[in-house]
Amino acid sequence: MRKLQNLLVTGGSGFIGSHFIRYVLTKTDFTGNIVNLDKLTYAGNPANLADIAARYPGRYTFVHGDICDRDLVQNILETHGIDTVIHFAAESHVDRSIHGPAEFVQTNILGTFTLLESCLEAQRQGRPIHFHHISTDEVYGSLGETGYFTETTPYDPRSPYSASKAASDHLVRAWHHTYGLSITLSNCSNNYGPYHFPEKLIPLALLRLLNRQEVPVYGDGKNIRDWLYVEDHADAVWLILNRGQTGESYNIGGNNERTNLEVVKTLCRLVAEETSGDVAEMEKLITFVKDRPGHDRRYAIDPQKIQTELGWKARHNFEEGLRKTVRWYLENQEWVQAVQNGDYRTWIHRHYGG
Ligand code: NAD
Ligand code: TYD
Repeated sequence: MRKLQNLLVTGGSGFIGSHFIRYVLTKTDFTGNIVNLDKLTYAGNPANLADIAARYPGRYTFVHGDICDRDLVQNILETHGIDTVIHFAAESHVDRSIHGPAEFVQTNILGTFTLLESCLEAQRQGRPIHFHHISTDEVYGSLGETGYFTETTPYDPRSPYSASKAASDHLVRAWHHTYGLSITLSNCSNNYGPYHFPEKLIPLALLRLLNRQEVPVYGDGKNIRDWLYVEDHADAVWLILNRGQTGESYNIGGNNERTNLEVVKTLCRLVAEETSGDVAEMEKLITFVKDRPGHDRRYAIDPQKIQTELGWKARHNFEEGLRKTVRWYLENQEWVQAVQNGDYRTWIHRHYGG
């Protein structure tokens, strides 16, 4: 078991990072402190953790800043006595990476480099730090109709996003082998759940269905993704942090492959059921649009290693997880409005004061 006392979570105001922080503070026996370093890009939303900030004022600290700022990172590592870094911060949307890759190279590659160098500096000063890197199954490229990604599948990234994540994975391993930095990595499939920024397929389709707007499906809609409820990802990362082998990578996935069209049709049904709407009317909103350039056809994770070594298993099946997600968006219309207007401050003030 690793000693986990003072955690630095990067990108903790984003979708998965905020779930991870909430999970650790509310659902595990962790008794230490968490610092969240986040630049608050368009995808970072302090409202995602407003409840946590109010409930854990002594144990949760937010620092607004950039992972590329080495002085700031070193200062946080030292003043907060950080023993573990969990690195979520990234530019994360494939479509954005196609139109503007520079930010992806900056944050995903140089930002990771800055964090690794800062951890190494702390190690040289006698303060060893464990570094866990959050990555994606997209580094492995695209599968045909059969086969699965395992931890030994050769890297073959195809989008600027996945190439930048692959580069960061390589840096993390190199800092372990060359400089002896203590590291673990995880490569996860597509996540979904509450607090998801509405540029990714599931929250985008869900909100458009609720507003009775057309839902864009790229190409023929037959591209396949392996979907995992976000809290199951948080649970897997927590297990790896506590009991994962230093230097090892773990693939995380829900054995839950769906074509994009299947995902959108399931959403049509769930939204109809939850709003007393008509499924056929919902399905009429599905609109096939021009495909994404270089669109990877199929991703599928083989999670056997994390299952057998660490005993992890996804707790939510897709139907349950997606219904929970639909209900959350229905019950949190103010959050949705605040995200769409970029008006987080008013939302936080109304709910939590300050
Ligand atoms: P997100 O886009 O919702 O959140 C990213 C967060 O990082 C935001 O809060 C943003 O403000 C912050 N950030 C961006 N640049 C920063 C910088 N330079 N300095 C500090 N903070 C910065 O992303 P997400 O979906 O929560 O993904 C989190 C991580 O998980 C990423 O590393 C991503 O590659 C990985 N991942 C995501 C998925 C998925 O399905 N979303 C699947 C597998 C892996
Ligand atoms: P996305 O949520 O962007 O995740 P990723 O590209 O990282 O897998 O997209 C998931 C799938 O849905 C992907 O095959 C692209 C497709 N997609 C659409 O068909 N329509 C959309 O509007 C979006 C955003 C994605």
